[in-house]
Amino acid sequence: MLEKIFLILLLKLPEEISHNIAIFLLKYNLIPSRRKLIINSTKTKLFNYKLSHPVGLAAGFDKNAEALPGLLKQNFSFIEIGTVTPLPQAGNSKPRIFRLLNEKSIINKLGFPNLGSSKIFNNINKIRKFHSLGLEPLIGVNIGCNKSTKSPLKDYEKCFDIFSSVADYITINVSSPNTPGLRKLQLKTNLDPLLKKISKKRELYFKKYKRNIPLALKIAPDLSNSDLENIVTLIQKYNIEGIIATNTSLNKKLVKNEKLLKLQGGISGNALYTYSNDILKRLQRLSKGKVQIIGVGGIDNGAKVLEKITLGADAVQLYSSLVYNGISIVDKIILDLIDISKKVKKSHD
Ligand SMILES: Cc1cc2nc3c(=O)[nH]c(=O)nc-3n(C[C@H](O)[C@H](O)[C@H](O)COP(=O)(O)O)c2cc1C
Repeated sequence: MLEKIFLILLLKLPEEISHNIAIFLLKYNLIPSRRKLIINSTKTKLFNYKLSHPVGLAAGFDKNAEALPGLLKQNFSFIEIGTVTPLPQAGNSKPRIFRLLNEKSIINKLGFPNLGSSKIFNNINKIRKFHSLGLEPLIGVNIGCNKSTKSPLKDYEKCFDIFSSVADYITINVSSPNTPGLRKLQLKTNLDPLLKKISKKRELYFKKYKRNIPLALKIAPDLSNSDLENIVTLIQKYNIEGIIATNTSLNKKLVKNEKLLKLQGGISGNALYTYSNDILKRLQRLSKGKVQIIGVGGIDNGAKVLEKITLGADAVQLYSSLVYNGISIVDKIILDLIDISKKVKKSHD
């Protein structure tokens, strides 16, 4: 009840103010922790880690690893920090997040505002003093490049070096639509050298520390079949463990309200659900189930999680549904999953 009233208030405030309030409350542990929901039927495996369920937090919510103290006490099985760039940057001018209330969707053109790799490393490192690598919720780090960089590839390498000791996995983000040129890194000629460099780095890290850092590539939903085919080929060539599908979409046809068509930025939430599922279907066909897939886009209930899993996802992430439903949505989804698996079991008995 309290959460509902609070949510109504938050949805009346400008988007970034509401977001900053949520981050503040989590940072200072002002949101009650959740009772752990561990049920056999929802257990899963991601990158060789055992998870009690498949629901994680998508990148972009806690860009700076500031909210981790509170987030660790919610029921996510993994949390993705970032996108982090080597140097701090302010991002695009405001306003840059727009709620599409009727469609339970969001358009954002943030452009990777973040505190930069060294501050964010310190924030995660503090957490690692009591929350070791491999413990649930896993902490993944999503890395990108600075808008003003002369060498995007070097930026990814720098971030890999900085975060390898504190990340349970690292996501190479080449799919945000709000950094000019970033999505071109998804093309074969650019992606090949990028994946080559990062996989070399992780090989060296493994030789030195005997720990393999799982890598994931986060892709856009607006990809042609041939782009997607090239991505899957390169993922397999460089033994990248996972694909995160998908980031936000630039396809304005997904939005029903025509007044909003003039807004720039990437679409997420309900409007992205079916469109991002289409990528899962295509990925499943191309990868023949050999790559692990994290399904993202429009998750706000257990049935949608199951649909993404049926389409080939090993786990899922969410962001936009937190804005419209509050943090309790995570527990609601897990309870949904438990309910569905009970019904399936009953129908088999
Ligand atoms: C306000 C906002 C900021 C985001 N920032 C990032 C980001 O920094 N890096 C990233 O990889 N994805 C980012 N995303 C994309 C989400 O991680 C996710 O892929 C997308 O929103 C689809 O999931 P959803 O429909 O559950 O929101 C952002 C999304 C939103 C709404």
